[in-house]
Amino acid sequence: MPKNATEVWKKVDNFFTDALIPADAALDAVVAANRNAELPAIDVTPLQGKFLELLIRATGAKRVLEMGTLGGYSTIWLARAVGEDGKVITLEREKRHAEIAQRNFDNAGVAKRVELRIGPASKSLAGLVAEKTAPFDFIFIDADKASYPEYIDWSLKLSRPGTLIIADNVVRDGKVIDPENPDPNIKGVRRFTEMVAAEPRLSATVLQTVGSKGYDGFAIAMVN
Ligand code: SAH
Ligand code: DHB
Ligand code: MG
Repeated sequence: MPKNATEVWKKVDNFFTDALIPADAALDAVVAANRNAELPAIDVTPLQGKFLELLIRATGAKRVLEMGTLGGYSTIWLARAVGEDGKVITLEREKRHAEIAQRNFDNAGVAKRVELRIGPASKSLAGLVAEKTAPFDFIFIDADKASYPEYIDWSLKLSRPGTLIIADNVVRDGKVIDPENPDPNIKGVRRFTEMVAAEPRLSATVLQTVGSKGYDGFAIAMVN
């Protein structure tokens, strides 16, 4: 890898963002609000948000589930993508993050299509199953990486054949390939990968990504 690779990734990310993502005052305001509240800058990038949007529009997904809201930047991409008759349920453990996100949904004009459930995602997921909620068309897993194994189990319970499941941050600067890494996040992603691989109901791939937020990747799985 060239020495200045990360600088190049950033510049290329900016180049394509400027070219392909129209200026958007509402999204800019969300990013500003999140940084102002000192939320960690770990929201998806604009090009990644657009990628999620395109997957949703291409598959016609109307019911979307997200684990890990933070300030709701990704959620707003999802909410816009499902359209006025769609719905996004997003799960967030931290009350403070949820409050900031809810304000962002109100300001961005998507509050009617977004339902934010506060608490550990595993509890909210159990609640959704208990309620016998309709299956989701699209699921974005982006909460604590240590719990990805649990999240893929719940996702299978909340999906139907054709559901697309995307999991963020499965590469982590390449740390994922180290079986000795004691970080629970890395262990979680490795176990998640084993489970997906062993699950006959899923067909999956991984897309490695570089850009303004470093080197990472998405797992993309479809329910058969
Ligand atoms: N999807 C967001 C980023 C999410 S960051 C975006 O791209 O804009 C991960 C979020 O998951 C953080 O807000 C964190 O508080 C939340 N989180 C961590 N552990 C969680 C858990 N067990 N249940 C629900 N949310 C959790
Ligand atoms: C982290 C979480 C994310 O969802 C992400 O996209 C990047 C980093 C983290 O917890 O470090
Ligand atoms: Mg993420």
